[in-house]
Amino acid sequence: MIKNICCIGAGYVGGPTMAVIAAKCPNIKVTVVDLNQKRIADWNDQNIDNIPVYEPGLGEIVLESRNKNLFFSTNVDEAIDEADLIFISVNTPTKTYGSGKGMAADLKYIELCARQIARVAKNDKIVVEKSTLPVRTAEAIKSILDNTGNGVQFQILSNPEFLAEGTAVTDLLNPDRVLIGGENSVEGQKAIQKLVDVYANWVERDKILTTNVWSSELSKLTANAFLAQRVSSINAISELCEKTGANVNEVAKAIGMDSRIGPKFLKASVGFGGSCFQKDILNLVYIAKSFGLNEVADYWEQVIIMNDHQKRRFSRNIVKTLYNTVADKKITFLGWAFKKDTNDTRESAAIYVADDLINEQARIAVYDPKVESNQIQTDLNYLESRSASENEKATKCFDNPYDACKDAHAIAILTEWDEFKTYDWQKIYDNMLKPAFVFDGRNLLDASKIKEIGFIYQSIGS
Ligand code: NAD
Ligand code: UDX
Repeated sequence: MIKNICCIGAGYVGGPTMAVIAAKCPNIKVTVVDLNQKRIADWNDQNIDNIPVYEPGLGEIVLESRNKNLFFSTNVDEAIDEADLIFISVNTPTKTYGSGKGMAADLKYIELCARQIARVAKNDKIVVEKSTLPVRTAEAIKSILDNTGNGVQFQILSNPEFLAEGTAVTDLLNPDRVLIGGENSVEGQKAIQKLVDVYANWVERDKILTTNVWSSELSKLTANAFLAQRVSSINAISELCEKTGANVNEVAKAIGMDSRIGPKFLKASVGFGGSCFQKDILNLVYIAKSFGLNEVADYWEQVIIMNDHQKRRFSRNIVKTLYNTVADKKITFLGWAFKKDTNDTRESAAIYVADDLINEQARIAVYDPKVESNQIQTDLNYLESRSASENEKATKCFDNPYDACKDAHAIAILTEWDEFKTYDWQKIYDNMLKPAFVFDGRNLLDASKIKEIGFIYQSIGS
């Protein structure tokens, strides 16, 4: 039976996932470790509002177990040494250098973890891939562990995480399924069973699926590719709707009522963001290409091409509608996070739309309920389109939406935060320059009410 779990990586996956395991398995000691001292200090912050990941319900669940059977620490060696089972939950970003640049997953953090486990481990351990990885990564991890270890036995499992940000806690408490891949040997099956027993503390057995390692690794990439493909598919139709007089919300509803299609992931938008969809599809494309499967690669790459087009189309439309120039105009962004109910901004469409508009010399004002000003600067600087001081000059952050929108030429809605619907839009209108425009990248507002106030309102796909 598992008594002691270590999770390497205290990020958006490691933190919430381990908090839920700790809450549901009071007899297991769970230690989440990270090299990033500030992140660990934030997880340990007395003020629960300061934990580094914003997720509805997460603060409460962390408080339930923190310093009882849930610990956050920078002492990676000690946690590895004590653990029977180690989750690797470190980041696996797209490579930014060398072969596979811009496509393949960068596995350097994974390899460092494997080497550290090999160096520290003194007894047999189960090592679980929680990070999203290219198919057959377990082979590389096993090779490192077996060849540089201290003669101890390692079992490698794949247990990809399917939580979505913004709903992480409910997804973890009530998952559609838990997927565990392992070797088809006696030891492999025993290791699988031990991890099944951990999840069985709160997940029904028939939702815990066991497969071979490669199916598990590939299923995670495939799930994300299918979800992203639905968003790109409806976004492709949104452009056609704009040309034909059809309304994409009505089309989505009509097709979603077909039980074979289903209603989820059919919301047209300014484009998907987040740390997973693009990275994982590029990874899939890279793997397909590396096997010479060019048609397979091209098929999936189109999902990204469509998404890039959708983001660019949104910013181009703003420029065109504002009389073909946004130079020195104030454009207010409501929302910067890649979706509502998270403080995560990775790959958010807002970053790319802002970049395009700054190229056109617009002044960007931003209000997001959970994103801080320094994050916005970091995101823009990462693109390397211009100097940090130029980005700083072109953007201004506000901590209240009414000030952010005052004297603006236009508002662009980039994130579907619920609170945006509850604003006093008449007051916002009264304080804007006229004509006052709203570009709704999330089809969030009630079009007829907004138009009635006097706004010129444009949404996606109508
Ligand atoms: P993240 O960047 O938020 O967190 C990763 C953490 O790992 C960082 O805090 C980093 O400091 C730490 N780290 C890196 N190398 C380390 C090392 N050698 N030792 C100790 N700590 C180390 O990333 P994330 O969003 O939590 O994603 C982690 C993995 O889970 C990725 O593979 C991602 O694709 C996958 N995933 C993410 C989500 C999501 O919604 N974010 C969902 C499912 C799967
Ligand atoms: C995704 C997967 O959903 C999750 O299972 C996986 O573990 C990690 O990747 P995440 O990226 O956190 O989760 O959020 P998700 O809800 O999938 O949204 C991704 C992006 O697509 C967001 O920018 C969202 O706004 C956008 N989206 C989603 C749409 O534009 N339309 C939709 O209908 C759904």
